[in-house]
Formats: sequence, structure tokens, C-alpha cells
Amino acid sequence: MGGLSWPLLVLGGGKIVDKLVEMKNIHKYYGRLKALKGIDFSVGDNEIVGVLGDNGAGKSTLIKIITGLHAFREGEMYIKGEKINPRHYSVKKAHQLGIETVYQEQALAEKQALWRNIFLGRQKTNALGFIKVKEEKEETEKVMRELMGFTGIGANPDSNIKTLSGGEKQGVAIGRAMYFDADLVILDEPTMALSLQEVDKVLNFIESIKTRGKSCVYISHNISNVYPVSDRFVAMDRGKVVGRYNKDEISLDQLNEELISVTKVK
Ligand SMILES: Nc1ncnc2c1ncn2[C@@H]1O[C@H](COP(=O)(O)OP(=O)(O)OP(=O)(O)O)[C@@H](O)[C@H]1O
Ligand SMILES: [Mg+2]
Repeated sequence: MGGLSWPLLVLGGGKIVDKLVEMKNIHKYYGRLKALKGIDFSVGDNEIVGVLGDNGAGKSTLIKIITGLHAFREGEMYIKGEKINPRHYSVKKAHQLGIETVYQEQALAEKQALWRNIFLGRQKTNALGFIKVKEEKEETEKVMRELMGFTGIGANPDSNIKTLSGGEKQGVAIGRAMYFDADLVILDEPTMALSLQEVDKVLNFIESIKTRGKSCVYISHNISNVYPVSDRFVAMDRGKVVGRYNKDEISLDQLNEELISVTKVK
């Protein structure tokens, strides 16, 4: 960071911006359904942002726009200060800008080995175009040990993804995000129920993102999971942001009450 601290980000080439992601007045339609109705949302440097809200609030839609999966219609989006043209933005471009996502609908190849999933779409190849299998497996082992906290029991690089638990699958996707050294990791809570131990693992991953100086957007229905790991919270309801809170200004109980009151049917 060259001696500069929050809220400034110094990018390659010396460009200085104050936000990793900045969205202004973003609208999104699915056909005639208006899923986002003028969203302002930002993520700063080394910040964990918890996004909360009921089913259908627009949380996944919001992050799918950031990750290049869906295009927005009105509004402006800047990533690291670069103005995004929705017609020329894509998942690939988001990867290049250092954004990785762990989707709610898990984007892992279910029938493949763990090591293949780490390098999915971004294979290491030799001059002839062949995949460097040995190197990828060794790297996977390192990712598992150092980034995913797998201790060698059970899963190994050759394990089939479908034999892993829900939490372990989340771990693989997060490990992949960390391996590619994402500046922003977006976690959309898996729909399947995770065991308490698996939830703990996911929360540890989020804490390690913070320790590594990176940022994270964490979406979850479970406020008591989001609360301890987040720096601030954004509450959404029916396509709008209905509340913004800094953790140092609100207790878990108060946040719970707030969410009930801001999402009440009006
Ligand atoms: N691909 C799609 N096509 C049409 N409508 C969609 C699509 N994805 C989402 N929607 C609709 O947009 C609205 C917002 O959905 P979204 O998935 O963003 O909500 P969410 O806050 O992530 O909910 P959940 O907590 O259940 O995951 C909902 O009314 C949903 O039905
Ligand atoms: Mg969702």
C-alpha cells in the first residue's frame, strides 16, 4: 500500500482510488420483474461487508452484476476506479480485475476431482498446450493445506468433488479464490444447510481474507454468522437498500431488531 492507508487504494501504475467497487443507482430487470430498484453499494479496501435480507430481496442479483454474470440497465458501476460498460463486462473481465465469487448455486464441476476444480477454466499448460497435471495436483495440495485449512484427513487433490461435504465444497471454491489472489471474494450463502463445524470453517475463511488484506462481500440469512466477521452491514428488501450499519455502532441484538423493522411489510 506504499504507506497509504484506508480509504485509498494504490493500483498498478500508481493510480489511486478510494473504492474497490462502487455502484450508483443500479437498476436490474428480469423481463418485466424489477429486481434492483436504484442500488447504491460500495466495497472498500480490506473491508468485509455483510449483505442481509429476505428471500428475493435482490442480494444474489446485486453480486451477479459485480461479478459480470448479469448486466445492469441503468446506473453506474466502477471497479477499482474503472467505469464499467455493462455491454463489455464479463466474468472473465471481473476475474482480471481480481474479483472471485463463490455462488449460492455452487459453480463446481460436481463429477470432477478436486484439483481439476481449482484450475477450472484457468489451466496451467505447457508449450504444447497439455495440462500440467503434476504441478496442478501439487498446487492443489498446497491450497488445501495452506488456504483451506484441510488437515490431510479425508479429502485429497484426487477426491471427487461429489464426495465432499457442503462446507468442504465452499472451502474448495474459497481456496480457489484465494489461490488466484482475489482482491474481492464474494460469498453467496449456499442454500444447503451446513453443519456447525462447516459454518465455522467458512467463517475462518472470511477472517483469513481480512488478515490477508483483501475484501469480502458475505451474503447470509444467518445474522449471527455475518455479525462477528463483518465490518459493516447492508440490508436489502425488495430490490432496495433499506439500511446501512457499521458494526461499531450496532450490537447483534439491535441489528436483529433493525432488520425486522426495516423489512416489515409497509
Ligand atoms: N434469472 C432470473 N430470472 C428471473 N427472475 C429472477 C432471476 N434471478 C432472480 N430473479 C428474481 O429477482 C428477485 C431477486 O432475486 P435474488 O436471487 O437476487 O434474491 P436473493 O436476495 O438472493 O434471495 P435468496 O435469499 O432467496 O437467495 C426475485 O424476485 C427473483 O425471483
Ligand atoms: Mg440469493
